[in-house]
Amino acid sequence: MLLTTAEQHMLSGREGHATKKCMEILVALGEIYGAKRLVKVSSVQVSGVSYKNLGDAGIEFLSDLAKDGRARVRTTLNPAGMDLANWRTQGIDEGFANKQLQVIDAFGKLGVEISCTCTPYLAGNEPSFGDHIAWGESSAVAYANSVLGARTNREGGPSALAASLTGRTPLYGFHLDENRVPTMLVDVTTALKTMEDYSAMGYFVGKKAGNGVPYFRGVKRAALEDLKTLSAALASSGGVAMYHVEGVTPEANASPRGLDVCQFSRRDLAETASALNDEGSPDFISVGCPHCSLKEVATIAGLLRGRSVRREFWICCSRKVKLLSDRKGFTKTIEDSGAKFACDTCMVVAPIEDLGFKIVATNSAKAAHYLRNNGLRVRFWPLEKCVKEATRTA
Ligand code: F3S
Repeated sequence: MLLTTAEQHMLSGREGHATKKCMEILVALGEIYGAKRLVKVSSVQVSGVSYKNLGDAGIEFLSDLAKDGRARVRTTLNPAGMDLANWRTQGIDEGFANKQLQVIDAFGKLGVEISCTCTPYLAGNEPSFGDHIAWGESSAVAYANSVLGARTNREGGPSALAASLTGRTPLYGFHLDENRVPTMLVDVTTALKTMEDYSAMGYFVGKKAGNGVPYFRGVKRAALEDLKTLSAALASSGGVAMYHVEGVTPEANASPRGLDVCQFSRRDLAETASALNDEGSPDFISVGCPHCSLKEVATIAGLLRGRSVRREFWICCSRKVKLLSDRKGFTKTIEDSGAKFACDTCMVVAPIEDLGFKIVATNSAKAAHYLRNNGLRVRFWPLEKCVKEATRTA
């Protein structure tokens, strides 16, 4: 791989131990994927922040880099394993909390913003069209490539951090025009009325698309929240890192020809939603996968006004959205009902199975998928039904 003089200096160790180590990671990655060179990035988002996933080996890796490494571009973090301010009210064990705080401390020393959200684009880290970036969270990667028109591969924790500490990433995959074109056509023959319909569609298509680039035709409208949940679902049942929606996303040009066509019908919608439902009454309800926008928080506040929550109910969002919610008065309405904000974390990366919960209701196909993987039973319900269930008298 061709390296500039500055990049060769980084690799030789002239800029310190952490930079050298990071450059070694990027060069190895570039060689595996046949990249000809590195490209400068304007933004990084690091996933793999929860101690639940990182373990002690992760803390050691981060602490080693933090000895002399420093972020060179704006770098934000994916959710951690707990609300960093209110972990006690979440019932998080003190031992886990101490380890999680060590992880956060190491990221802080590296100059990473402790934002802890999977929707960095709603919290100030919003790249522009055409920007090369290195993001890790799969739902945010799909959103950035597809909706924002920025360019990123799905980075692992170490490669995203390496991009942050060098300001570079190998030029391959979704950084190149030829890999951003559709590989399959999806004819949407049913009306998509709710966010959860988009989530189910993403889950259905993700399974068929694998690592491909689906092109959706027949979608009449799509709000930010619809695309947010579609991105997450596509990247959870499959490995979709980019998609197009005709008339909606910026790189969706005229309908491509000669591709395999799959349909998404009313029946597919109903069957997908039903397959994501287990039996039983939920003892835990959580929405905000990916993290809620302010509009979603406003809707939840409207549904909870004057009501009392009777089951553990988490609303996951970034600290920035929570701050806006405070100012708008939504937080008071929500907290008065007994529901809890879960900032910095989510129902999947927090160790909720260790808190004794068995059945989780959520309005996200992605969350349902991973919660099942974590050994929990799930109900995949629309937002209104989740809120209604949270307030239902037993
Ligand atoms: Fe975000 Fe957690 Fe879902 S990180 S996308 S809320 S699984």
